Amino acid sequence: MVLVNGPRSLLSAEVGFAGVPPIVMVQCLHKGFNHPEGYECAPKNVKIGSLQMFMKNIGCCEDMGPRDFPVEEVHKISMFDIRMVNTDRQAGNILVSKEDEEGYIVLIPIDHGYCLPENFEDCIFDWLYWPQAHQPYSPDTVEYIRSLDAEQDIALLKFYGWDLSIECARTLRISTTLLKKGVEKP
Ligand SMILES: Nc1ncnc2c1ncn2[C@@H]1O[C@H](COP(=O)(O)OP(=O)(O)OP(=O)(O)O)[C@@H](O)[C@H]1O
Ligand SMILES: [Mg+2]
Repeated sequence: MVLVNGPRSLLSAEVGFAGVPPIVMVQCLHKGFNHPEGYECAPKNVKIGSLQMFMKNIGCCEDMGPRDFPVEEVHKISMFDIRMVNTDRQAGNILVSKEDEEGYIVLIPIDHGYCLPENFEDCIFDWLYWPQAHQPYSPDTVEYIRSLDAEQDIALLKFYGWDLSIECARTLRISTTLLKKGVEKP
């Protein structure tokens, strides 16, 4: 699996730096969905959701101790969670995959429905208590963080149909700045 910097293209199955499975926003209409005011085939009844690639895994981080997780795997998730101000990063939301015969562990972050909140009140990261979180970021991770651009991210999200509110855009600007300033500290 190749991890690449920069935005993914819409139709690509490339996995980005943090290893989030490829995902698309979908709109769906079906009479079996919850329609409290009655069903009719009309745009107002269309549901919005997301469709994510199924990733082969052997369980989640809740099922095992963190000792054998590679440092880089924990760091990519910590970077993503700080950047996205993810308020739902419990160990159950990280899948574990064994990439090759030697059993190299790859962590797959999932369940990102509670990112970019309007304030920073509810951030609890399970990885904060894992030993890997005490190691410094590698030059590759630092380089990736230096390449981040919140304004570009906001424009990209808008292009793909999600116009961030002022409050959520502010959250992304602050978290990106926090990461950038953090990695420049000796
Ligand atoms: N991309 C994926 N590939 C493989 N399995 C997945 C993937 N996404 C989710 N799963 C499986 O589905 C389970 C539940 O997923 P997820 O954590 O997204 O939802 P949830 O926490 O149950 O619900 P909610 O979205 O309401 O918080 C995961 O623990 C995992 O077993
Ligand atoms: Mg979950």
